[in-house]
Amino acid sequence: MIDVQRASFPPPFPEELWWNEEQLNEHVTRFPEGAICAEIEGRLIGSMTGLIVALKDNGHSHDWESITGGGYIRNHNPDGDTLYVVDICVIPEYRQSGIGKWLMQTMYETVVQHGLLRLLGGGRMPGYGARKLEVSPEQYLENVLMGIWKDPVISFLLRCGRMPVGIARNYLEDEQSGNHAVLMEWRNPFK
Ligand SMILES: CC(C)(COP(=O)(O)OP(=O)(O)OC[C@H]1O[C@@H](n2cnc3c(N)ncnc32)[C@H](O)[C@@H]1OP(=O)(O)O)[C@@H](O)C(=O)NCCC(=O)NCCS
Repeated sequence: MIDVQRASFPPPFPEELWWNEEQLNEHVTRFPEGAICAEIEGRLIGSMTGLIVALKDNGHSHDWESITGGGYIRNHNPDGDTLYVVDICVIPEYRQSGIGKWLMQTMYETVVQHGLLRLLGGGRMPGYGARKLEVSPEQYLENVLMGIWKDPVISFLLRCGRMPVGIARNYLEDEQSGNHAVLMEWRNPFK
């Protein structure tokens, strides 16, 4: 899993943010259904991690560190209403073949099975860094929504049916995204 992170989040993404063994142990013990991975011929090629939170405790204004307990998910609350995405990644050689979407749809099933209201998470906007002198994050998002620009993560999340609910500034140390993220949700259609 740490190798999957290393391949998926190369520099300038800070390597301190790759999973460590203690975090992985917390994921599989606290909320195993929220710790899923994709495997091909015995090789891990992608993963997705989530926890349950009560959105009223966090609101739409939060950062990655606070809402995910620094990636340790010790704040996982089985009585919450929102499945929050800590991370999703697929190694570069297997991208654009439907694996990321399959991981996301698996997590949507978990939202439905648990009767939660939504899935929510902060999507990186790695294409923004190169445009940050040109446009605000809001204008960048607007252009991606209109299909004028493509963003490697936000365009993917839109294709998965996630809808933007706001921009979170200083969400995560992430130079490529100007440290911003787009909070994007998927509402449980059965609630
Ligand atoms: C984001 C990521 C998980 C996508 O995984 P993936 O397996 O390549 O995505 P999929 O093949 O399932 O793509 C699903 C849809 O998104 C679209 N998509 C995927 N990558 C895209 C890109 N770079 N640009 C535009 N659209 C993209 C696909 O075309 C597909 O569209 P379709 O449903 O119309 O066929 C992967 O690129 C990744 O690991 N990125 C680095 C890690 C990262 O930043 N994770 C996000 C943390 S918030």
